Amino acid sequence: MAGNITLTMVKPVAYSKNTSGKILARITEAGFWLVAARTMQLSLVQAKKFYAVHKDRPFFNDLVEFMSSGPILVAMLEKENAVEDYRLLIGKTNPAEAADGTIRHDFGTNLQANAVHGSDSDENAIIECDFFFSKSERFYRPG
Ligand code: CMP
Repeated sequence: MAGNITLTMVKPVAYSKNTSGKILARITEAGFWLVAARTMQLSLVQAKKFYAVHKDRPFFNDLVEFMSSGPILVAMLEKENAVEDYRLLIGKTNPAEAADGTIRHDFGTNLQANAVHGSDSDENAIIECDFFFSKSERFYRPG
């Protein structure tokens, strides 16, 4: 499945604005298949583990505090060229720089509360999907 999966999270501010449904509709209308999904609240420990790749960045503490501050919706998505196509759908990291019509432009608040996370490589997509979903929780596109 390498190359065909990616991991997204609807982050706390976007979740609290009740935009998860609209964001999921954008995702599935763009051709992504919902392999797995759940709502949950990350603990601080889980957020630190998930974002460990950023542990030396100046924004790390704010990031993990924010990501564990409220409920999120986490989903594993499947599509050919999933990582790259999803990054195009969500737009640049900073909503102020993201193109019109992208998810981060339309639903993001600021750099931290940028509506959604998206995996940045096929390798990380596998690690991130394994972080949240067991094999028995995954339901792939029929056919
Ligand atoms: P995300 O795709 O979840 O991956 C790491 C997150 O760190 C990123 O989205 C941003 O929300 C957040 N972040 C906060 N500050 C910065 C920054 N200066 N540069 C990049 N990402 C940042």
